[in-house]
Amino acid sequence: MTKVNNQNLPPDRSRILILDYGSQYTQLIARRVRESGVYSEIFSYDIGPKKIKEYKPSGIILSGGPESIVYDNSPEVPDVVFDLNKPILGICYGMQAIANKLGGSVTNSALREFGYQEVNIIHESPLLEGFIGDKSKLKVWASHGDKVEKLPRGFSSFISSSNAPISGMMNLDKNYFGLQFHPEVTHTEYGKEIIENFVNKICNCPKSWSAENIIKDHINKIKETVGSDKVLLGLSGGVDSSVVAALLNKAIGDQLTCVFVDNGLLRLNEADAVMDTFKKNLGVKVIKVNAENEFIDSLKGVNDPEKKRKIIGKTFVDVFNREASKIKDVHWLAQGTIYPDVIESAGSSTGKAHVIKSHHNVGGLPKDMKLKLIEPLRDLFKDEVRKVGIELGLHHKIVNRHPFPGPGLGVRILGEVNKEYADILRKADAIFIEELEKQKFYDEVSQAFAVFLPVKSVGVMGDGRSYDYVIALRAVETVDFMTARWSRLPFDFLDQVSTRIMNEVSGISRVTYDISSKPPSTIEWE
Ligand code: XMP
Repeated sequence: MTKVNNQNLPPDRSRILILDYGSQYTQLIARRVRESGVYSEIFSYDIGPKKIKEYKPSGIILSGGPESIVYDNSPEVPDVVFDLNKPILGICYGMQAIANKLGGSVTNSALREFGYQEVNIIHESPLLEGFIGDKSKLKVWASHGDKVEKLPRGFSSFISSSNAPISGMMNLDKNYFGLQFHPEVTHTEYGKEIIENFVNKICNCPKSWSAENIIKDHINKIKETVGSDKVLLGLSGGVDSSVVAALLNKAIGDQLTCVFVDNGLLRLNEADAVMDTFKKNLGVKVIKVNAENEFIDSLKGVNDPEKKRKIIGKTFVDVFNREASKIKDVHWLAQGTIYPDVIESAGSSTGKAHVIKSHHNVGGLPKDMKLKLIEPLRDLFKDEVRKVGIELGLHHKIVNRHPFPGPGLGVRILGEVNKEYADILRKADAIFIEELEKQKFYDEVSQAFAVFLPVKSVGVMGDGRSYDYVIALRAVETVDFMTARWSRLPFDFLDQVSTRIMNEVSGISRVTYDISSKPPSTIEWE
């Protein structure tokens, strides 16, 4: 069950409650509301009246969902939603559920509408105020089969489509609104403005959810939670743990100790960069553990990717625990869990349990340490984490970094891992990334890296032949990393990267570019 999670929010900060009926777009609603400068959280529609009341929302949004309200036992709108006397916006299924609950009627539409659709504005509405001008049509994103056929008492229709005469409904006395389409999807024209009108004007929420305020709220909450206790953090150098480190450092200073494990599978100069950023520049207490040999030894003779992952994960836990147990009187373990980890990426938060990040999960801590968990970012989306990082003074390079897998180069060296391969790969990868940054492609691709192929291929060196290894370059564009398209980087660019790698990295006779998309391939090669 979704947790009530306004743990970092002072009681006077406005908030919008989103009740999730299982739409693939529910997360987007929360993001759009927050982009309007207002805090919002997603709860399952059946979280129960007590929790909904306790949340004290300034307004409620009911998401879309895959069910049909026409059938028995489909999810309904809880009475408490209307008892709160706050503005309500129902989107798609949410609209149909409102209509059904308040005495209107909904029917299965013979014509299902998916994708772009044109709707007609047939009446003014506070939802459309300020941007609509004399426009009479809107291009919107729809995905529904049912439609409201009869309005509930007190409602009027303000948007229609050729298939559904009631595509937008409102009751201005109560401030209840329903939209048959999805304003949260960027394809909907003026979707952002519609959400802004609802939260900022109709719900009267000021724009107070800014990086500065997020930091202020979170610092207060962290101080309140940990008091004078010591906190331990496994710092990986990735965006999330870096922002946690910066935030905790600002909140509790030297009560924080970070442990950074150099597993020998990091990118070129990465360990030094992490130490410079946190120890030198921010004054964070960081213990660096050089565990390269331990990791490389543990991977000897292991070819299977999943076995390699398990070994790297287990070795990490062993090394981390060993270091952690040397630090006395620690009570808290901090983790970089973020909101999408909590609500799950499967498209719905409904009934989903809290998932702790597995990749840097240090769940195997010694029992006698009995650490309590603090997750200061667990109510933030990735873009908010980045804004907070920048506001806390982290370099944009750290904050906007491509994701790097927990097992690092361990899954980018195909088959057995050894130091020679890792050193070659590090150099080739650094050239690729440096060129992407220099030629301004880095931010255009979602993830880019080099892969080491332990096969020997023929080349010419001076007058003789050489047999050396192969490097594959991988660059993809993706929104959610579930599907990805290979990046169409210019040939001239690839040529330059290839030439540099061949000239500057010994042991390479061939560079290839990966032109497979996901699916059927994956982003990583293992
Ligand atoms: P795939 O290869 O599954 O990758 O298409 C999708 C995203 O997940 C990352 N990835 C991992 N991250 N531990 C991690 O922390 C792993 O074992 C792992 N495997 C893949 C990958 O880099 C990409 O961003």
